[in-house]
Amino acid sequence: MAKTGKIAILPGDGIGPEVTHEAIRVLETLNDHFGCQYECVEAPVGGAAYDLHGHPLPGATLELARSSDAVLLGAVGGPKWEAIQRDHRPERALLSLRAELGLFANLRPALLFPELASASTLKADVVSGLDILIVRELTGGIYFGKPRGIRVEEDQTRTGFNTLVYNETEIERIAHVAFAVARKRDGRVCSVDKANVMEVSELWREVFEQTARKYPDVELSHMYIDNACMQLVRAPKQFDVIATTNLFGDILSDAASMLTGSIGMLPSASLDSNNKGMYEPVHGSAPDIADQDKANPLATILSVAMMLRMTFGEGDLADKIESAVKTTLAAGHRTADLCNSGENPISTSAMGNAVLKALAG
Ligand code: IPM
Ligand code: MG
Repeated sequence: MAKTGKIAILPGDGIGPEVTHEAIRVLETLNDHFGCQYECVEAPVGGAAYDLHGHPLPGATLELARSSDAVLLGAVGGPKWEAIQRDHRPERALLSLRAELGLFANLRPALLFPELASASTLKADVVSGLDILIVRELTGGIYFGKPRGIRVEEDQTRTGFNTLVYNETEIERIAHVAFAVARKRDGRVCSVDKANVMEVSELWREVFEQTARKYPDVELSHMYIDNACMQLVRAPKQFDVIATTNLFGDILSDAASMLTGSIGMLPSASLDSNNKGMYEPVHGSAPDIADQDKANPLATILSVAMMLRMTFGEGDLADKIESAVKTTLAAGHRTADLCNSGENPISTSAMGNAVLKALAG
């Protein structure tokens, strides 16, 4: 438990700075009203860092992230930087932070807030009460496997190639995270793979089965990725924890977040083996609404709650933030992304104000 600590704030691009600003105000409120001493230190990342320093992850930003107890990231990327060479694109910063900090466990909840049931594109009875947690392996698999590249063949045809590779150690440590977190929920893990086609998946399944023996109270099932996509849309409430590889998790988590109809509400955590973590909203940089005071800051605020619970062991403070968010929604406050037609949206800062008021009274 720690009511003190250093937090690296990496606002990034698009709506990143606006939403992290509201999250910083939440941390300041904890300092002012709940006896905390969290120190927030900002540094540029992504396109903003590229513009300033010619690199999406400057050395000083990485050093700050390393020397902090936790990292809060807004979002990176935008059309402005799409033409830059791959190594210098904003997204690279995310991948490097994950790799450099060893953040192998990505936790992405897909939770439907009862107040927002009508925001989902699926029928209310299919999604009401939805509470899924995707545990995505984040530092291995095809995202990082070597060899990779584009080579020119003798006949001048170009061939692109990436490698899907996982060793037992990588599989086992993510399996442990999935089982441990399932214990605190409904006690069910569905591991998603493509074992009918790929050897990597065969090994993945085997290691999950072995690791499961240490968690007899948790139920393990397996599903192929194609079927999992279908089941996620057909009957999403059958899932508790979904554990999967880097690429499958990337895809499944976007689909799962949309089920809730409120991607602007979903936080995420990327953890290392000591629960040091980087926390960020699931949504991206949304350049189309940047700098207009329109974005929903709640996903970032809820990311702060996840940080307090998982890195600082301050579950009570996390609960306080989450209930302040619930109070705010129940009072009818909605940013544009959450509005039904005919409803009047409030601004990013007004939403922040409402949460601060609910938090501090
Ligand atoms: C995500 C994003 C990233 C990923 C991109 C921006 C590199 O889509 O965090 O899901 O693919 O992991
Ligand atoms: Mg993604």
